[in-house]
Amino acid sequence: MMRGAVYVNGKIAPADQAVVPVYDHGFVYGEGVYETLRTYNRVPFLYDRHMRRLRQSAERLLLDVPFSDKALLQWMDQTVAAAGELEEGYIRVLLTRGVGDLNYDPKSTPTPTTVIIVKPLEAPAPRVFDDGIRIALVDMLRNHPKSVNPIIKSNNLLNNALAMQAAYRAGAEEALMCNYRGELTECSQANFFMVRGGAALTPASDAGLLEGVTRAFIFELGKEIGIDVREEVLTPKDLATADEMFITSTTRELSPVVNVDGRAVGSGKPGPVTRQLLELYQRRAQELTRAAVPSA
Ligand code: PDD
Repeated sequence: MMRGAVYVNGKIAPADQAVVPVYDHGFVYGEGVYETLRTYNRVPFLYDRHMRRLRQSAERLLLDVPFSDKALLQWMDQTVAAAGELEEGYIRVLLTRGVGDLNYDPKSTPTPTTVIIVKPLEAPAPRVFDDGIRIALVDMLRNHPKSVNPIIKSNNLLNNALAMQAAYRAGAEEALMCNYRGELTECSQANFFMVRGGAALTPASDAGLLEGVTRAFIFELGKEIGIDVREEVLTPKDLATADEMFITSTTRELSPVVNVDGRAVGSGKPGPVTRQLLELYQRRAQELTRAAVPSA
């Protein structure tokens, strides 16, 4: 039984009744973009940043965004309200090329499809933050930036799904990927950081990755509390030199990584730099959403 509510082109339906036509190019070609947000205090967190990225992703597909930020927020609030009893919400916004004949000519699909999925948020279990998770460096490469550029938050997620299948086979909770140059990039659904000598290092966007909203926020938090957070070229060899590791995403915040490919990271426990950044992140998320006036 699916819980939640889904907005599709102006109509809100219970999760198990929401449909899009099979001729939607989002379905047949994976042509579309998306954003995943979550609420704190029932307010979508960092909404403006997610919208900015949605527009940038859409632009790279030459896909029109047929709504204003304000209109979408209103529909989002209505969908959250329709989803019923939610402690906090998981919100996925999808924008696809729309319905049309089966060819790649954008003229065939004059009207993009807008979808907002709202369901109860499944926050990471306490053991994730207390004990950390295990990840695997997989053989699957992150897309070449001149292929489907990973900077686009695209609905075309086969690369990510296959990487994650390899991680599951390895008994890991995330898949870390290299790029075509053999440098570390990011995980299937999260950005990657490692801490060395007190500094938090993360692959540069030039490595070919999604510029996470959470990742960008971590740079700002680091500045605030005097932790050096910076981009660096990292390779698989660097993994053995890490004192700490963590991954970042909207839904997982900062999740400590304590094991890569069966090898313990540092002390094998979440480290102090990770903890400090996580604590500040969670505090800021509460403060910023409490300060916001809910629009519904
Ligand atoms: N995933 N890299 C990839 C490939 C991602 O899919 C995500 C987010 C991130 C982190 O981005 P952000 O901090 O903006 O959430 C990095 C979302 C959560 C998802 O797939 O649902």
